[in-house]
Amino acid sequence: MVSSSSSSSSSSKHCKKNDSFNGCSNPTKKPRLSFISDSEIQSEFSHHDQTISRINNGSFGSCPQSVISAQQSFQLQFLRQPDHFYFNTLKSSILHSRSIIKSLVNARSVDEISLVDNATTAVAIVLQNYAWGFTEGRFNKGDVAVMLHYAYGAVKKSVQAYVTRAGGEVIEVQLPFPITSKEEIVSEFRKALERGKENGKKKVRLAVIDHVTSMPSVVIPVKELVKICREEGVDQVFVDAAHGIGCVDVDVRDIGADFYTSNLHKWFFCPPSIAFLYCRKRGEEGNGGDLHHPVVSHEYGNGLAVESAWIGTRDYSAQLVVPAVLEFINRFEGGIDGIKERNHEKVVEMGEMLVKAWGTNLGSPPEMCGSMIMVGLPACLGISSESDSLKLRTHLREHFQVEVPIYFRAPLDGEVGSVTGYARISHQVYNKVEDYYRFRDAVNQLISDGFTCASLSD
Ligand SMILES: Cc1ncc(COP(=O)(O)O)c(C=O)c1O
Repeated sequence: MVSSSSSSSSSSKHCKKNDSFNGCSNPTKKPRLSFISDSEIQSEFSHHDQTISRINNGSFGSCPQSVISAQQSFQLQFLRQPDHFYFNTLKSSILHSRSIIKSLVNARSVDEISLVDNATTAVAIVLQNYAWGFTEGRFNKGDVAVMLHYAYGAVKKSVQAYVTRAGGEVIEVQLPFPITSKEEIVSEFRKALERGKENGKKKVRLAVIDHVTSMPSVVIPVKELVKICREEGVDQVFVDAAHGIGCVDVDVRDIGADFYTSNLHKWFFCPPSIAFLYCRKRGEEGNGGDLHHPVVSHEYGNGLAVESAWIGTRDYSAQLVVPAVLEFINRFEGGIDGIKERNHEKVVEMGEMLVKAWGTNLGSPPEMCGSMIMVGLPACLGISSESDSLKLRTHLREHFQVEVPIYFRAPLDGEVGSVTGYARISHQVYNKVEDYYRFRDAVNQLISDGFTCASLSD
């Protein structure tokens, strides 16, 4: 068992910030004498398809049985007496969830935290506001938004829909991959900002920065990039941390962005779908300035957090189970920080085991990854397009019962025999070392069979 929640690292190591939420020193609780056992973890995730080695928590997250039960109980309460639920339970429960998140991420005020469906929705909220900057005459045609070349596909589409269409220009920060140091990111970012300003003729209105990029997956030095944005006079900074809470350290005050979103259904054990959007309170503006939920309801104009808490009749249960998630994570030594640290250690260990077995390389140094790491696949597999990487992923699922996403990295000019495919492996508490051995053995089998992606049909 890889995850061994109850084992090893000293609890004092994890008892830093947010102690009352980390199962360390909550004065309202007796100290925990024993932590969740391996068999209890397996039982919490017994609804997972046991035939599959799921080393892909990064795509859809995971939700334990105890949280699913709590969610079902909320769903039934609503169906049983909807009016009572609406008038007496819903708003106060959402506020409670928001206040837990507020403390976990070190926001100043609960008004800064809105709960929305997912990171995609949070992006739409922020970019819609950006588009209004053009239509309301605050921005000039050609004003710039900067984002990473490796921004998530849906985010790029959103930028196209809201920024380009409104008259804004988009500058992408090119990043090398594999990457060897955060300095490479910082230097490319500075260059993009310089291009954005174009000798003072244009203004960079918004920077969209991932905290953890999706594909390829790398932890971005967000705090440093936000600081550079401030120095360079960028109007607003939005951090897309779809993989944030539970995967990397999240202290929104320390990071210092204007907006920060993190899914709670990826690495924080909530069911789909829920994310928080932090909007830094500025002076009298408060409540995220003039941000609005794109779905307009009765609550329009009452502040983003209140607007987001009622976007018409629907299932809000995912937003209500945050206390149940807190109970779950507090069964682990060090709470969410402990889980995150152990996932990081294990995913690095498994990544190193795989590259050693295959004679390849990692996509980034271990300190530039959270609970996911990019693992080079042997060049002889012949991954030569995005379509190949998708076909290989399907092949691994269907023939070897391994679920893992694969990234295609086009060879640079003149490069021969280089690694062109990287698997993004994740580690979450339910994973076992056998999951990664199965992946290793599957690839070894393919190699010894003389397999290449060219043999896979479309
Ligand atoms: C960096 C990044 N941004 C945004 C998203 C979108 O998240 P969601 O589908 O939950 O809205 C993802 C999803 O993996 C992501 O990795």
